[in-house]
Amino acid sequence: MIDKKMEDALNNQINEELFSAYLYFAMAADFEHKNWLGMANWMKIQAQEEMAHALKLYNWINERGGKAEFQAIKMPQSNWDSPLAAFKEAYGHEQHITSCIYDLVKTARNTGDIATEIFLQWFVTEQVEEESNASAIVDQIEKVQESTNAMVMLDKELGFRTLATPVQVSGE
Ligand code: FEO
Repeated sequence: MIDKKMEDALNNQINEELFSAYLYFAMAADFEHKNWLGMANWMKIQAQEEMAHALKLYNWINERGGKAEFQAIKMPQSNWDSPLAAFKEAYGHEQHITSCIYDLVKTARNTGDIATEIFLQWFVTEQVEEESNASAIVDQIEKVQESTNAMVMLDKELGFRTLATPVQVSGE
């Protein structure tokens, strides 16, 4: 049976992941509205990955004899001044999520929940990729943002992103 403190912390993380999905869907909608269709695609894929992260936590809590519970999701903003502003915010948000995951690992250690600590290793590794992906796009935009042609090319490239992680039906 999962410790209540661990269960609550994992449920809070479900909320963080679902807010992440909201945030990225909101960015996708803003990009789409402004005809940055490749960037909108990238954000929609990102939002779906976040829902998969929430589902992974949901499955784990239930598998461990707890119960996934849901809280209100904050309203994300709906407009960003530029693609750079949106991707910088995405990068900052991923850094925040990394710190949440580290706190979860500490809670797992403090409650002696070795199984959950091992489960969380997947998220630790995933966050390295999440930060790296967002940071790379921030760098690319900073290099080319003065050139409309180059921005259009970058937008096209981001349009090729596909969903790499199908939504999981088990905790694994
Ligand atoms: Fe689920 Fe982007 O962290």
